Amino acid sequence: MGLFGSKSKKLSAAKKLEGAVQFPGDKSISHRYAILAAIAEGPSEIHFFSSSVDCQSTLDCLKPLGVKIERQGNVVKVAGGGLEGLRAPSGPLDAGNSGSTMRMLAGVLAGQPFRSVLVGDSSLSRRPMKRVADPLTLMGARIRTAEGGRPPLEITGGNLTPIRYEMPVASAQVKSAILLAGLFAEGETQVVEKHPTRDHTEIALERMGADIGCHQHTIAVRGRARLEGQKLHVPGDISSAAFFIAAGLIVPNSDLVLHNVGLNPTRSACLDVLVPMGGRVKVVNLEMLNGELLGDLHVESSQLAGGEIPEELVPGLIDELPVLSVLGTQTEQGLSFRGASELRVKESDRLAAVAENLRRMGAEVEEFPDGLGVAGRQKLRGAEIDPHSDHRIAMAFAIAGLVAEGTTVIKDSSCVEISFPDFFATLARVAG
Ligand code: S3P
Repeated sequence: MGLFGSKSKKLSAAKKLEGAVQFPGDKSISHRYAILAAIAEGPSEIHFFSSSVDCQSTLDCLKPLGVKIERQGNVVKVAGGGLEGLRAPSGPLDAGNSGSTMRMLAGVLAGQPFRSVLVGDSSLSRRPMKRVADPLTLMGARIRTAEGGRPPLEITGGNLTPIRYEMPVASAQVKSAILLAGLFAEGETQVVEKHPTRDHTEIALERMGADIGCHQHTIAVRGRARLEGQKLHVPGDISSAAFFIAAGLIVPNSDLVLHNVGLNPTRSACLDVLVPMGGRVKVVNLEMLNGELLGDLHVESSQLAGGEIPEELVPGLIDELPVLSVLGTQTEQGLSFRGASELRVKESDRLAAVAENLRRMGAEVEEFPDGLGVAGRQKLRGAEIDPHSDHRIAMAFAIAGLVAEGTTVIKDSSCVEISFPDFFATLARVAG
């Protein structure tokens, strides 16, 4: 496999993948630990903090709010000032490309007795924020958005009242925003989820001493509880590992060991799909860190049956669907999924981007309003891939390049830095 250039990356078919891989700290968990540490009392020390640009955006938004943060590599020290410790920023807070930063910080800012403005890059500026503005407005915050409920978000917060909110869309970011705002409301805030989404906020809040409980589909948090600063360790990001799980399964003769991968059951649905299809993935060395499950994965090339991904699993593998679609082309029966219209409002329209780029590689793919269907046993042809500035599209098609005939060129490949800056170097290493 050859790689060159700072912008485009070239890939060709890999004979095998082998070796051990360590992933950046989980992006979702890193955002949450940083935000919670900022409103906790006393110092927190976060180890294996994500190397992603997105998580740096969260730190960069917290600093102008008066939070003292020191970063040395993947160790981040945060001096928490408690629930009342934030101060009005002197200018807009730039969430960059990060939906998690904008939506979750909106929850905290809704509880502040000052005005703040959250802005983002051109991709984030197209993403829906009404879903977060609506419940926070019900709690008493004043929120202005641009036309169509898009960023920037102008938030004037304070004096929140608790609500019981039934989530109209499955979104852990929105759920987290409401729970974070609930910390600033007098009384119990409840969020009801039809389909469970990642529960890292709930786990971290409990660890830090919040009064939080979950019963069936309802999560309830009491406001005004004191959070305590902690020493925290972030597990490896399963959404980054997913590219190597898929690659290890579909590239012949592969044998990969993926270390310290976060295996929180609300995040690991890709394994629940791949293993029953014949994917040889063994989980070893399971342990719990700060209430989060993690372990090592041993992945070997496999004959995969393919099939239909049940709709109820979709929230638990929403970020993995682009690479699973690529993998689907190498299965016996192909792969399909529905109930994933949320993919249309991620960093790009991921259903359209996957369909477009698979077609560029000569694949047969059907695009539904809320899903995709790819035929199995397909020969992919190397092609020029347009990731639409979306990190997960760039990485999914780099994996496609490893099983394609000829050369695959990923344009504007630096977008992988959003979640996994060492992605191409790591791939080059295991591909020899
Ligand atoms: C995330 C939740 C998901 C996911 C995103 C990270 C989180 O988004 O796609 O990458 O950290 O809570 P939604 O909340 O929009 O589903």
